[in-house]
Amino acid sequence: MEIIQRPRRLRRSSTLRRMVRETVLRTDDLIAPLFIAEGRGVVRPIGSMPGQAQLSVDQLDREIDELIELRVPAVLLFGIPAHKDANGSAAWDPDGPVPSAIRAIKQRAPDMAVIADVCLCEYTDHGHCGLVNTRFDDLNVPTVRGDLPEQIFEPTEPEGYVLNDPTLELLARAAAAYADAGADIVAPSAMMDGQVAAIRAGLDRGGHISVPIMAYAAKFASAFYGPFREAAESTPQFGDRRAYQMDPANGREALREVALDAAEGADMLMVKPAGAYLDIIHAVRERYDLPLAAYQVSGEYAMLKAAAQNGWLDERRAAMESLLGIKRAGADLIITYYAKQAARWIAEA
Ligand code: PBG
Repeated sequence: MEIIQRPRRLRRSSTLRRMVRETVLRTDDLIAPLFIAEGRGVVRPIGSMPGQAQLSVDQLDREIDELIELRVPAVLLFGIPAHKDANGSAAWDPDGPVPSAIRAIKQRAPDMAVIADVCLCEYTDHGHCGLVNTRFDDLNVPTVRGDLPEQIFEPTEPEGYVLNDPTLELLARAAAAYADAGADIVAPSAMMDGQVAAIRAGLDRGGHISVPIMAYAAKFASAFYGPFREAAESTPQFGDRRAYQMDPANGREALREVALDAAEGADMLMVKPAGAYLDIIHAVRERYDLPLAAYQVSGEYAMLKAAAQNGWLDERRAAMESLLGIKRAGADLIITYYAKQAARWIAEA
């Protein structure tokens, strides 16, 4: 047999391979998540996420300087408040960990894009991403009662159900607080229906018409969030998130979720997690022209780290291959705990 096409011809040297390389991971594609703890002098390493730590605002300077030095363009902030309550009121406290961190980062590094995650799960004592169906009488938090939206009990839903509409106003409050503090982008991750529209309306009312929304459009109820919940102390105290986050089996439904967020005014879309959902990333990229982010989540990072620490994988090659795969599937931006390391590897290459 005569072999006519010999693809190997273009693989013979590193120069030829460079020339025909289709996908390039750039430092500009990377977003580094940071966990902001309340208090001072806090540097609390996260056991299941080697290399990551909760940091208090006064401990951020070094981290920000390093990210700037490496030219990582953006950070995504999660807050760990000292006090949690039933309605997550620390989420919109202007002096809470996230607004304080936003101000500190913008002061030190005005060009760093600061993205604020908008969700209640780090701030609620029950650990859910929204208000939980309960009667006022059952709420053991009289001081915040007056601040709760009117409709806290939906008689048709069981107690413990995570309420959609009453949560929207609280998410909008949190997003407004982050925009007031100077956030460049807000990123709602609670998976409440209508959250993008509610946050957009709240931002606009507050004079923040120029603050974009990066919507966690298709966020799946994933086992890969395990280490994050340790990091953010946001494990649900009862039940799980399957009544609001997506079923991992559903691809078409993911596109419906994305369509809704786009229609509600999302400026950027996100798929999360990334590694097990490359088909979703690809499908969203094919159908939508909005910038698309993918979140390589805590469990994906933890797996790579654990294998590397055991000597079972070449960390650099495996991590870069994972990130490249996410990019090749169609993501423009990747939120990753590997941001700093990847930026270093890119600079070295
Ligand atoms: C919810 C939120 C979660 C993550 C980001 N935002 C976790 C969850 O839904 O429990 C997970 C990120 C990760 O695992 O790295 N606010």
